[in-house]
Amino acid sequence: MSFSFSKEAVEELKSQIDIVDVIGRAVQLKRAGANYKGLCPFHNEKTPSFVVSQQKQIFTCFGGCGASGDVVSFVKRYYNLDFNEAVEKLANEYGITIKKNNYSDDREKYYEINREAARFFYKSMTENKNAGYTYMQRRGIADSTIKKFGLGYADESWDSLYNYFKNKGTDEKILVELGLLSEKGGKYYDKFRNRVMFPIMNTSGKVIGFGGRALDNEAMPKYLNSPENRVFQKKNNLYALNITRQDIGKEGMAIIVEGYMDAISLYQGGVKNVAASLGTALTENQAKLVNRYTKNVVLSYDADAAGQKAALRGIDVLKNENCKVKVLHVTDGKDPDEYIKKNGKEAFLELITASMPYTDYKLQAYKKNLNLDTEEGKLDYMKRIAPILSELSPVEADLYIKKIAKDVGIAEGAIKMEILGNNNEIGEKNKFQPREEKKENDYDISQMEVTIIKCLLTEPQLIEDVLSEEEIFESVLGKKAINILFELYGLKGDFHISQLTDRLDPEESQTLLETLENVIVSGNTEEIFNQCIDRYRINKLKERENRLLTLLSLADEENSTESARELTIELMEVQKEIKAHGGKDNVNRKN
Ligand code: UTP
Ligand code: MN
Repeated sequence: MSFSFSKEAVEELKSQIDIVDVIGRAVQLKRAGANYKGLCPFHNEKTPSFVVSQQKQIFTCFGGCGASGDVVSFVKRYYNLDFNEAVEKLANEYGITIKKNNYSDDREKYYEINREAARFFYKSMTENKNAGYTYMQRRGIADSTIKKFGLGYADESWDSLYNYFKNKGTDEKILVELGLLSEKGGKYYDKFRNRVMFPIMNTSGKVIGFGGRALDNEAMPKYLNSPENRVFQKKNNLYALNITRQDIGKEGMAIIVEGYMDAISLYQGGVKNVAASLGTALTENQAKLVNRYTKNVVLSYDADAAGQKAALRGIDVLKNENCKVKVLHVTDGKDPDEYIKKNGKEAFLELITASMPYTDYKLQAYKKNLNLDTEEGKLDYMKRIAPILSELSPVEADLYIKKIAKDVGIAEGAIKMEILGNNNEIGEKNKFQPREEKKENDYDISQMEVTIIKCLLTEPQLIEDVLSEEEIFESVLGKKAINILFELYGLKGDFHISQLTDRLDPEESQTLLETLENVIVSGNTEEIFNQCIDRYRINKLKERENRLLTLLSLADEENSTESARELTIELMEVQKEIKAHGGKDNVNRKN
C-alpha cells in the first residue's frame, strides 16, 4: 500500500536522532573543533573534507563533490533508498514510531463502503415500518430531519448488512476494519443491531463512521460508535458540521454540544449553527476545525457534573486556539435536546444571549465545594481564581476584582495581593498587547497568496506575471486556486470569482472567500501586485543568503579557504540582487 509521512512527523523524528551518530556508523568521523570530519563517502578522496555539524544537524562535503544535506538525505544517498525507505530505516533503527499517512486513493474505497452502508440503513429506516422509525418519532424527530441527517436503522438480525455486502462481493476484511462487521471463528456478523444509526460525515461530506443508539434503554452501550480506523478519528471531527458549517459562518458563532441528539434537536428546532463533539472532552483538533468557520464558540454541554467539567476543559482547549468562548447553561432538562423540545427556539436563543463569558463561568464554577461564609473558604477561593485573573488584561482584571469583592465579600486589596503573591506580575505580560495569534497550519493560504489572488480578480491580465513565479503559491488551497485561474485565463483570457469558487470544494471556497474578505487591497492594484511579487523574490533571495551564510561559517571553521572564497562570491551576488529588488540584506535575519 502506498503511504507518505507528514512533514511534522519527519521533523519530529529528526529531532530525536543525532546526525553524528547516524553518519558515524557509516563513515569514520573525528572531532574537529565544533564539528566532525571524515573521508567523503560520496567521492574518492585522500584527505578528509567531509564535515558533519552536530549543532546544525547537516553534512557538507568541501572536497568538491558538493554533497550536503540532513540526516535523511544522507541515509537516502548512502544506502541508496527513496525518501520513505530512508525515514523508515531511521525510525526502525532508533526504535521510534512514526505515523504513516495512507494515500487518499486507498481511502476512497473505505468512504464509498461507508456510504453504501449509510444508504442501506437509511432505506431500512424509511421504506417500511420499523422499530427505529417509531423510536425517532417518539423522540419528536421529523421525517425531514431523518432525511437531512441521513438517519438510519440497523435491524435486529445478525446478517442483514452482511448479506447485502456479500451480494456485492465487498471485501469482508474492510468491513471488519470499518467496524460494520465483526468476525468470530471465521464467521462474520453485523456489528450494529437494533440501533438507530447516525452517519458521521467529515466536512467534505464523506461518510467516515457511525454512531448507533440502542432502542432499548437497557442495552449496552447506549451508543455504539465505529472504531478508530484509517478514515475515522473521532478526535478530528465534529458531528453535523458538514451540514451546519454554512449556518455557523452565517451566524458568526458555533454552538458546541455533547451528543448526536443535541445537535439534531437544536437543528430541527431552528438553531442550526450547532455541532457535536461526540463524548465529553473537546480536542485540540476539533477546536481547530471549528476555528475555520468562526472564532465565537458557545459551549452547551449537559447540565450534569461531567458536562460542566467538560466545559471547563473545553474552555482551555478553545482559548488555546484563540477562540472567544462563552458557556451556556441549560436551566431546564438535562441537555440541550430536552431543553429545546420543552421550551422551543426562542427560549434557547435567550439562553444563548444569557450565556456567560468564560471568565465568569470559571469564577462561578470554582466556588464549588467551598463554604464562602468562612474565612478559610474565601481564602481557598482566592487561591483558585488567582491564576484566572492574572491572565486578564489589567482593565478586565480590575473589573472582575471589583465584582468578586462585592460578590464574595472580600476586600479588593486582598484579592490583588493574592494575585500578586501568586504571580507577582498582574497583567504585566498582557499589558496593552493582544494575545499572541497562533500560527496558521500548513493547509492555510498565506496572506501573500490571498493578496495576489485578490489583485488578479480585478486585473486578470496580471496573471501572466505569475507564470514565472508559480512557487509563490505554497498552500494546497493557493496552488489549486491559481491553477484554476491559469486554466480559465488560458481558455478565455479572463475570469470571475464565481468561476473560481464553483470549481473549488465547498469548504475550500468558503475558506478562500473568508480570507479574501479579510485582505484589504486599497490603492493601485498593479502596484500592490508588484510589491507582492517583489517581496516574494526578496524572501527567496534571503533564504538563499541564509543558507550561504551557514555554509560559509562551516567553511570558516574548517579553514576551507577555497570554498569560502566561492561562497563569498556567491553571497555577494545574492546580496546585490536583494538590494536591486529594493530589499535590505541580512540585517534582520529571521533565523
Ligand atoms: P449522553 O449519554 O449525554 O447521550 O452522551 P445523549 O446525547 O443525551 O443521548 P440520548 O439523548 O440519551 O439519546 C453524549 C454523547 O456521548 C457519546 C455520544 O456521542 C453521545 O451522543 N456517548 C455516550 C457514546 O459515545 N457512548 C455511550 O455509550 C454514551
Ligand atoms: Mn440526551
